[in-house]
Amino acid sequence: MASSVIISFAFLACTLFLMTGTSSAQLTPNFYSKSCPKVFDAVSSVVRAAVAKEKRMGASLLRLHFHDCFVNGCDGGFNVIDDVKKKVEGVCPGVVSCADILAISALESVLALGGPKWTVKLGRRDSKSASLSAANSGVIPPPTSTLSNLINRFQAVGLSAKDMVALSGSHTIGQARCTTFRARIYNDTNIDAKFAKLRQSSCPSPTGSGDNNLAPLDVKTPNYFDNDYYQNLISQKGLLRSDQQLHNGGSTDSLVEQYSRNPKSFFQDFVAAMVKMGDIRPLTGSNGEIRKNCRVAN
Ligand code: HEM
Ligand SMILES: *[C@@H]1O[C@H](CO)[C@@H](O)[C@H](O)[C@H]1NC(C)=O
Repeated sequence: MASSVIISFAFLACTLFLMTGTSSAQLTPNFYSKSCPKVFDAVSSVVRAAVAKEKRMGASLLRLHFHDCFVNGCDGGFNVIDDVKKKVEGVCPGVVSCADILAISALESVLALGGPKWTVKLGRRDSKSASLSAANSGVIPPPTSTLSNLINRFQAVGLSAKDMVALSGSHTIGQARCTTFRARIYNDTNIDAKFAKLRQSSCPSPTGSGDNNLAPLDVKTPNYFDNDYYQNLISQKGLLRSDQQLHNGGSTDSLVEQYSRNPKSFFQDFVAAMVKMGDIRPLTGSNGEIRKNCRVAN
């Protein structure tokens, strides 16, 4: 009985697989080599110009790709990339998904700020439902996360602790709002005292004023993609509680120390982890859609 259920289930699964054989596919770097060979140039020109004008744009775009991938699989649910989309539509209308535009924008952002290059895999499709609301639904780890929370959240989407530590190196660029690090700079003990004071000066307590005041995630060079993030952690200058968790007497200390000494090994692992993150259950084939406007489903 049980085995016949299993067999008919397997049969059904195979039939479905054959029927939908074209709708599920793997991402590949060459996905647009015929349909939109200029996609990299188009994205690059807009992203480079935007980052040259406003460095933080690079950080925002990188973070968008992370959230996009984590929340719904990389399905292009979020935006800010209207200009990039417009440019891409200009060279090959209706062909390139917003999720792929985000993936390429993340690469171009990192490159524009001095970081490493990787081979972006493409062929994602966009979801037919807005995924933005899910951004706060508990998939993205909060900045108060403990090390085991962080490891578990990443594991839930198929990323290892090593991937998590390497990807967190993204906090070598960009800014965070006072509300995300206030508790840390006033109450934590695993923080450099001078650093805490410095951050308190523009992030008042108690809650209420200055919630949106910004501070750089990397105290040294927030506009350069380098390995300073890990050096900060070793001197207890991680801005977020979740940052400092990576070097707080736990299982990831040694990896943080390795990345702090060896930028090459950080870049190598970061690149591998970005490709892995970009592969989180994407919509492919005939699933989903190519959005006309990255902000909303068609
Ligand atoms: C490990 C778990 C992570 C936590 C808890 C976390 C948390 C945060 C928080 C709280 C902020 C500030 C947001 C705000 O003030 O509104 C932030 C910013 C940022 N995060 Fe993460 N993050 C994590 C992982 C990642 C990953 C994997 C990436 C990219 C691959 C990333 C890229 C960024 C970037 C670039 C910024 C700066 C954005 C900007 O300046 O606009 N983060 N993160
Ligand atoms: C610091 O901890 C105390 C005691 O738990 C709490 O009442 C206070 O709100 C915390 N301060 C911040 C800024 O989080």
